[in-house]
Amino acid sequence: MKHNLPKETHITGHQTETQKYGTVANRPLSLDHKVRLASVEGLNQLLADTMTLRDMYKKHHWQVSGPTFYQLHLLYDKHYGEQAELVDALAERIQTLGGVAIAMAHDVAETARIARPPRGREDVTMQLFRLMQAHELIIGATREAARGAAAGGDDGTNDLLVSDVLRVNELQVWFISEQLAGAGIADKEEEAARSAAKAHA
Ligand SMILES: [Fe+2]
Repeated sequence: MKHNLPKETHITGHQTETQKYGTVANRPLSLDHKVRLASVEGLNQLLADTMTLRDMYKKHHWQVSGPTFYQLHLLYDKHYGEQAELVDALAERIQTLGGVAIAMAHDVAETARIARPPRGREDVTMQLFRLMQAHELIIGATREAARGAAAGGDDGTNDLLVSDVLRVNELQVWFISEQLAGAGIADKEEEAARSAAKAHA
């Protein structure tokens, strides 16, 4: 049997797309096209940032070192798994609303707003600091998207954002910030302030 696939092994352009990214197909959900479009846009941003945070957890899981290696190696992987579940829930909500979920690494890299860590290893404090920053960005954007969804009547999206995305991120922040106690962000900020004051003296 002959396949009808294009001959090129590397297909570029958009000639093969059946639905463009950023559009929403009709669904009998009793939700306005505009509302679904706005929800999908917010969800795709959160999806890209959540995929980035998920991958940052795996990076840290592999690269962590020091006296807390074992417990952080395990904690990072637990959070990775929970973020991976959120990724799937966000993507499937987008498809449910008739949208197109962002998926591939290059598209995610172009869309995510989380600060890009270096390829190399960093110490535990820096790892934890980056995670806190990423969580805070996602938490802020989640609350904003949840309010927008509720205002438009998209209760399903609001529920997913509040009950799953927000709660999981808040809980993970607790675990990460307790790890930072004694050698955390406050200390790093104090240190920076001290060396800035020294430079001015
Ligand atoms: Fe592993």
